[in-house]
Amino acid sequence: MNTTQPPVADAGPRPRLSARAAGLTSSAIRDLLAHARRPGMISFAGGLPAAAMFDLEGLHAATAAVLETGVDVFQYGATEGQDDLRQALARLMGERGAPVEASRVLVTSGSQQALDLVVRSLLDPGATVVVERPSYLAALQVLHLAQARVVAVDVDADGLCVERLDAACAGLAPRLAYVVPTFANPSGACLSLARRLALLEWAVRHDVWLIEDDPYGELRFGGEPLPSLLALAPRVPGAAARVIHVCSLSKVVAPALRIGWTVLPEALVGPVTRVKQSLDLQTSALTQEIAARYLGSGRLPTRVAAIARAYGARKRALADALHRHFGDRIGFNDPDGGMFLWARFEDGTDAAALLPVALDHGVMYVPGEPFFADAPDRSSLRLAFSTVGEARCAEGVARLARAARTPGACASL
Ligand SMILES: Cc1ncc(COP(=O)(O)O)c(C=O)c1O
Repeated sequence: MNTTQPPVADAGPRPRLSARAAGLTSSAIRDLLAHARRPGMISFAGGLPAAAMFDLEGLHAATAAVLETGVDVFQYGATEGQDDLRQALARLMGERGAPVEASRVLVTSGSQQALDLVVRSLLDPGATVVVERPSYLAALQVLHLAQARVVAVDVDADGLCVERLDAACAGLAPRLAYVVPTFANPSGACLSLARRLALLEWAVRHDVWLIEDDPYGELRFGGEPLPSLLALAPRVPGAAARVIHVCSLSKVVAPALRIGWTVLPEALVGPVTRVKQSLDLQTSALTQEIAARYLGSGRLPTRVAAIARAYGARKRALADALHRHFGDRIGFNDPDGGMFLWARFEDGTDAAALLPVALDHGVMYVPGEPFFADAPDRSSLRLAFSTVGEARCAEGVARLARAARTPGACASL
């Protein structure tokens, strides 16, 4: 056996990074994912869609059909996106209660890129941005890279506490508000209709751009559907020109396609498209065409309904097990959709301190801290139920309860 080790690479001097890159911390969730591969681990950590629910038959058929069409799908394409996909997405928005012209749809490399493009297009360093508290971690990273000043406003069971916006933003002249109104990541909260309307009115009153990030809106398994901010905007004079809707196929079709999109107010289409030009020229024409074919096949609604049903059963199993094992010791929201249950140790347990013990017991979650732009609630944790079947949900919570009972495990705050 050759035991010669490869030479250790010379790391060289520490690179001098830009201030914005140097301050960027690695995503706590992406770092945790390595543990999820440990044999037997039950992971409530990753915000991944259930791979078993991917419509492989439909995706294979769409891919085969696209590959038969010839060379065009291997060529460069328009920055705005492939025409047939933009039209299919405009139709999809119409089916979701927000009819839009295809010319307002910009296809992006995942919805993550849409967030980045919009933020780069609208913000100068130091600009004030309102986010939910807690908020989507990777949006906070985008805002950090843009050197924005972030103001976080609390979320309750009905979503962002819109009535607190004026006080939170007093004297700050916010440029932008970033919200996930429907089944937010991580809070799972759904913004009430009254607050949706109040948020639109607030944006108009203060001349603020409003990003509505909506990857989970279709994954409803309880309660009554609510219109998106984009669909509601025509009811509030001036609001339609302020709402930037961002969406994705990642959670309902497959994230590997990297197909997201944004519906932009007319005036932003040119500027945001030019920013995309400078970043990646275009999103892959190949996966765009696969997505267009798949949407054209008509299979999506049935698939989304099946995914929502499965997630609903998983959420119920998780919620029941939390009640059974923790009683009042854990408080949590009870989401009507999406992939996340946001919980809090009411006895002051520090969720980050408990995590290594939980890992030893074969269960993992994301401690709440990285989802806070400021003043983190260290007792909070995010439990993603999308990839964990009902029986495993119950077993995972039993493991968590054993971990929490381990002497010395529950460093209180
Ligand atoms: C709220 C939210 N926005 C955007 C994204 C990015 O998704 P993608 O880039 O895969 O479309 C995610 C992914 O988890 C998310 O939770």
